[in-house]
Amino acid sequence: MPRYYALIPAAGSGARMGGESPKQYLPLCGRPLIHHAIATLCANPRIERVFVVLAPGDSQWAQHDWQEFSPKLVPLFCGGGERYESVLNGLRVVQDEVGFEDWMLVHDAARPCLDQPLLEKLINEVGDDPVGGLLAVPVADTLKRSDGENRVQRTESRAGLWAAQTPQMFRYGLLTRALSMLGDLVPTDEAQAVEQLGFFAKLVESDSRNFKVTFPRDMELAALILASRHSLIGAAGLPPLEEGFDLVSAAMEVHRLRRLR
Ligand code: CTP
Ligand code: MG
Repeated sequence: MPRYYALIPAAGSGARMGGESPKQYLPLCGRPLIHHAIATLCANPRIERVFVVLAPGDSQWAQHDWQEFSPKLVPLFCGGGERYESVLNGLRVVQDEVGFEDWMLVHDAARPCLDQPLLEKLINEVGDDPVGGLLAVPVADTLKRSDGENRVQRTESRAGLWAAQTPQMFRYGLLTRALSMLGDLVPTDEAQAVEQLGFFAKLVESDSRNFKVTFPRDMELAALILASRHSLIGAAGLPPLEEGFDLVSAAMEVHRLRRLR
């Protein structure tokens, strides 16, 4: 039986977010942003290990306490200049531990709102697939092609278009081969690299809450999504998912983020 592993590329600089530290360490609901993705992946009983690929000179990781995820969580200080290089470097470092046919779920550190039902849905729908698959959302908005100066050039058809998210899950062997044979291509996700080899991933319908935190305004939305999830759990009489998380601090954080805008 193939085993399941997760790999979180977290070696980016967060240029579009601006700010002093990379976005994966910005505070979100009382935790560094990356904590949320780690918590969701580590909580899944089918995932054996969660590898986090950090920049070689990362000095912030060690400033946080990751003990609660031990020994499932493994930091790797081998990030590269592009996202795909971080992923490939991480895959190479773990080659003695992971089998060719094992599943590797690659998930952006910058998607803190992934929840357990979506993760389970991906694993259930792709676990038997010969290629692999990804969470994605059918495009709902009308699409405009710009002339480069913020004026509409034409309307594009959205028929058949999906917006790709993560996790994206592929067999370790196929993914490593795909990322090693790119030529001049700089893929923005794993599925694109696999496409170059003539394999086509399965699209698993997700929802927009699993969005990628990219710009400063995205922090508020992420805080609201996480806060509402935890308050719903509280209302149902269940214990909070993450120790130390409470609705009041989340609400204060939303307030703080609004003031910063
Ligand atoms: N990433 C990485 N190594 C890189 C670039 C990105 O591991 N060389 C990671 C980021 O840390 C993030 C994920 O890939 O978790 C998605 O990338 P993105 O959202 O583009 O993050 P950044 O590259 O950090 O942001 P920006 O593009 O605005 O600089
Ligand atoms: Mg980037």
